[in-house]
Amino acid sequence: MFSCVADYRLAARRRLPRLAFDYLDGGAEDGDALRRNGAAYRQWLFKPRVLTDVSSCSTAARFFGYEAAAPMIVGPTGLNGLFWPRADELLAQAASQAGLPFVLSTASTSLLEDVRAAAPKGELWMQLYVQQERGIAEDLMRRASAAAYSTLVLTVDVPVHGKRDHDSRNGFKLPLRLSRKLIADCLTHPHWCWQMARHGSPQLKNIAKSSGERADLSRHAAMLSRQMDLTLGWADLAWVRRHWNGKLIIKGVQGVDDAMLAVAHGADGIVVSNHGGRQLGSTFASLELLPQIADAVGDQMEIFIDGGVRRGSDALKAVALGARGVLLGRAPLYGVASRGGAGASEVLALMMDEMRIAMRLLGCQRIGDLGPVFVEREASARGADV
Ligand SMILES: Cc1cc2nc3c(=O)[nH]c(=O)nc-3n(C[C@H](O)[C@H](O)[C@H](O)COP(=O)(O)O)c2cc1C
Repeated sequence: MFSCVADYRLAARRRLPRLAFDYLDGGAEDGDALRRNGAAYRQWLFKPRVLTDVSSCSTAARFFGYEAAAPMIVGPTGLNGLFWPRADELLAQAASQAGLPFVLSTASTSLLEDVRAAAPKGELWMQLYVQQERGIAEDLMRRASAAAYSTLVLTVDVPVHGKRDHDSRNGFKLPLRLSRKLIADCLTHPHWCWQMARHGSPQLKNIAKSSGERADLSRHAAMLSRQMDLTLGWADLAWVRRHWNGKLIIKGVQGVDDAMLAVAHGADGIVVSNHGGRQLGSTFASLELLPQIADAVGDQMEIFIDGGVRRGSDALKAVALGARGVLLGRAPLYGVASRGGAGASEVLALMMDEMRIAMRLLGCQRIGDLGPVFVEREASARGADV
């Protein structure tokens, strides 16, 4: 077990061939949004209270009535099978054992039914991309509901894929083609290469099943990137509601106006997110946007946030600024990419441990006690307020 998420990132970088690591780790264009996400957490500093009784301290949090072990959720990430065979199932198991929800991506490489079987008692949420062929999304919602996924996370910030220079530089295309570069990469990363050879190239199994076709990765990857429904609008939430009875969260909101529209259209929650800096290259960090969005709609829906969370203490800052919880993108992926299911569990355990330590040092017994009085933005950053 390593000491912190950054150590798992380095281990993942060692184990994965460059094209897979860059896909996991990189951002869009010049990486401004990606860097800003992390930097924003460093700008907010804790203001602890002392001589408070912290003999008992609980990180428990509540999302839509579900009691989670901490205000953290393992967020949706596509193509996880590229990092470790059956990674979606391993992540769902790790989340379930840690007492945290897991969100399965539409672009998952395991069937949603298999993920349910791997985590029979887990709190599972389903992330939805809506493609032109709406029947696929309708079938995914039907299947997710039948497999007892409680919450739908509708991602709205990917009408097209962001421009990721590293992916084009690396020749990252699905299915992976045996180029000279990939062969050289494989030779220097034999464990990954051996796993891929043994388990086969990852497939977008959910999309394949819901489109009634075989899991042909080249076709489905192309479909995912080129055939997003560009007409999708707020009025379509009514269509989603007709097919989905559970809770509905809109992921990818980056401003007060859209947060208010989400309320007006009956969403149960939003994720303030710039997609981990993987879509538009240059945006505000999600944490920079959180306080104003929480002020505007925090009493009307549950607000989640993601982007740049690498420490348990980062999650506490987000909660202090109005988030109900944080979604983790890359952090558990570094765990699974370096050490499989054990790595994912270790990352979640160490982040929860960091959270407990920080809460006691803050003089805070319960997550619900956190608020703006526990944090302050450093003066130099305040000058550049959003
Ligand atoms: C490799 C990778 C794949 C992703 N795939 C998806 C996806 O399929 N659906 C989605 O809504 N978000 C996806 N995301 C975005 C994450 O859900 C999340 O918004 C982002 O990673 C949060 O930032 P962080 O990685 O800094 O925690 C992906 C992120 C990564 C790193």
